[in-house]
Amino acid sequence: MGIFKTHLQTFVILLISSLTVGAAEVDISKLPPVAAQKPDFVRDIYPIFKEHCVSCHGPEKQKGKYRIDTKEGAFKAGENGASIIPGHSEKSPLIHMVSGLIEEGLMPPPKAEPLTPDQIGLLRAWIDTGALWPDGPIPEYVRKVDFKKEVEPIFQKSCSECHGADKQSGGFRLDQKEAALAGGKAYGKVIQPGNTVKSSILIIVSGKDEDLPMPEKHKLPDKQVELIKKWIEQGAEWP
Ligand code: HEC
Ligand code: HEC
Repeated sequence: MGIFKTHLQTFVILLISSLTVGAAEVDISKLPPVAAQKPDFVRDIYPIFKEHCVSCHGPEKQKGKYRIDTKEGAFKAGENGASIIPGHSEKSPLIHMVSGLIEEGLMPPPKAEPLTPDQIGLLRAWIDTGALWPDGPIPEYVRKVDFKKEVEPIFQKSCSECHGADKQSGGFRLDQKEAALAGGKAYGKVIQPGNTVKSSILIIVSGKDEDLPMPEKHKLPDKQVELIKKWIEQGAEWP
């Protein structure tokens, strides 16, 4: 019995030391802190995977034989075990990878924009609280555009000089709700809430309207056009 116990102890000691050797490669004190907020999978987590990971770990490519667009794929154990260990972000290889703690294993790989510490903090909080992933297709999370913060500043910066209080080229003014929704002399109602097809402001700000003078003054960067489009699609609320 005594000998058996000793063997068992030796075995346990060996096992523990091999685990710590494995763990010593990763310095978990360097992990970004866990977010204080409890994340929502659809709103906070999946959009990160979708934007930064699915191009290489999705339906088209499964780099490292890993895919993260399905629940089965995300939790499946590969050659080195599971990448996500629910309840333990500090032990989850996926977290080590996105934090750059595994040599030559940074995810996404170096050419892409890395995740921010805030994003990693959210992923950690998600894993620590059980890594909940609802069954079935993942609904798309549609973020509501904030007019005051996101759209109005664009109008002020790029349009108000010619469509503001002092000057209303084409009889169009964009610094007041009623006037803006009423539209201009030639084009009429250029903003039609909920209807992106009929809202000709979108063609105008894409710089695609050659009938307008100074199309270059009307052209906005693609991201801003997308934002205005989303705002109109969501009802063009103007508080
Ligand atoms: C540009 C392509 C690309 C992107 C984007 C990318 N990866 Fe990877 N990923 C790879 C490649 C390539 C491997 C395989 C590396 C190897 O086997 O040495 C890999 C391997 C992995 C593995 C290990 C799988 C296993 O079981 O061995 C995980 C986990 C992983 N990636 C997570 C992510 C996460 C999370 C993101 C987004 C934050 C991401 N990856 C973004 C290319 C990518
Ligand atoms: C440098 C001046 C200038 C700037 C900046 C400018 N516009 Fe214009 N805009 C004009 C002129 C000039 C016309 C044409 C007036 C005409 O043909 O009678 C016009 C016409 C328009 C019309 C058509 C109005 C009608 O006749 O029905 C819309 C809509 C419009 N602009 C929107 C915008 C938006 C949105 C921005 C900001 C992204 C913007 N404009 C920036 C000068 C400007």
